[in-house]
Amino acid sequence: MSLALYAPISIACVIPGIFPQVALYTESRGNYVLYKDETRPFTDEDSDRLLNNNISTMYVRTGDFDVVSRFAEENLSQILQREDVDHESKCDALCQTSSSYLNDIFSDPEKSQDAARCQKLTGHLAKHISENKSIASLFEKMSISSPFAVKHSMQVAAISMLAWSKLFPEQYDLLVDVGVASMLHDIGMCLIMPNLSEEKDYWTTPSVDEIKRHPIEGYVFLRKHGQYSDLVLDAVRHHHERYFGGGYPGGLKGDEIRITTQVVGLADMYCTLVVDRPTRKASTPEEALAIINDETHKCFSTLLFTAFKSIIMEQLG
Ligand SMILES: [Fe+2]
Ligand SMILES: [Fe+2]
Repeated sequence: MSLALYAPISIACVIPGIFPQVALYTESRGNYVLYKDETRPFTDEDSDRLLNNNISTMYVRTGDFDVVSRFAEENLSQILQREDVDHESKCDALCQTSSSYLNDIFSDPEKSQDAARCQKLTGHLAKHISENKSIASLFEKMSISSPFAVKHSMQVAAISMLAWSKLFPEQYDLLVDVGVASMLHDIGMCLIMPNLSEEKDYWTTPSVDEIKRHPIEGYVFLRKHGQYSDLVLDAVRHHHERYFGGGYPGGLKGDEIRITTQVVGLADMYCTLVVDRPTRKASTPEEALAIINDETHKCFSTLLFTAFKSIIMEQLG
C-alpha cells in the first residue's frame, strides 16, 4: 500500500467513546493493518490494549485526516490532560494540531484566518511550555513538519514563548499574544507567494525586494481582520527591525522596537539557523548562538541576547 494513503495521528488524539467514526490502522514494517473500521466505536478496552502494547501512533486514511484534525483541535484540552498517555504522545498531538492549523491558514489565509482559533491553540502551547521543564522534545517534533513555513512558525512560537516566559514571568498575560505573533509573523510570505507547499519554494522566491514586503503585507492583512492585538500586529510588522538600525520596514532602532517584537525577531533568527536550507546545513544550537553573537552588535540588544542564550543553552544546548 502507498504511504500517501495514510496519515499518522498520535494515540493521545484517539479518545475512547468520542473519537470520530473513521477507520483506524496500525503500521508494521510499512504495511497498514486495519485495527477497526468506521462503524465500530473506539472503546476504553481498545485504548488500554494499544497503550499496553506501547502503540504511540495510529493511522487514518488521508481522506479522513481533516475530520480527525478538527476533532483533535476541538478536544485538545482533554487530550493534553489525559493521564493514561505519555508526555511524548501529548507533544505529538500538540504538534499535529498546530501544524494542521498553520497548513490551513498558509494555504488559504483569507478563508482560514481565525484569531480565536490561533489564540486557543497558542494557549495550549503556552500552558505546555510553562508547565514543563524542557521543550527539547516538542521542538524536535516540530522540525519534522512541512512545509517549511509551518515548521518555522511553530518553532518560532515555541522559542519566543519559552524566552518570554523565562525573561518576563511577571508578564505571563502577554505570553499567548507573543505566541500568536510568532505563529503568524511570516504570514505575509504566503500572501506574496501563495504556493508554499514545497520547502524549496520558501527559499527560491523572486527577489529580496519582494521578500522584504512580507512584514507589511502580513500586518495589513491581519489589521484588516481587526481581531489581533497591537502587540501581534507590531511583531508581524517589525520582526525584521534590528536593535542598532538597518532592519526593515521602518529602520527602527533600540527601544523604538517593542520588547515583544525584539523577542520574536531573535527567536525568528535562531529558528532560521537551526534548520536545513538548500544552501547550507542546519546549525547546532551552539553554532546558531555563536552566529547570532557575531551579529549582536548589529542586530540585538546585548542584554536580551545574553539572557536568550542562557535560556536556549539550558533547554536545547
Ligand atoms: Fe519574516
Ligand atoms: Fe520568520
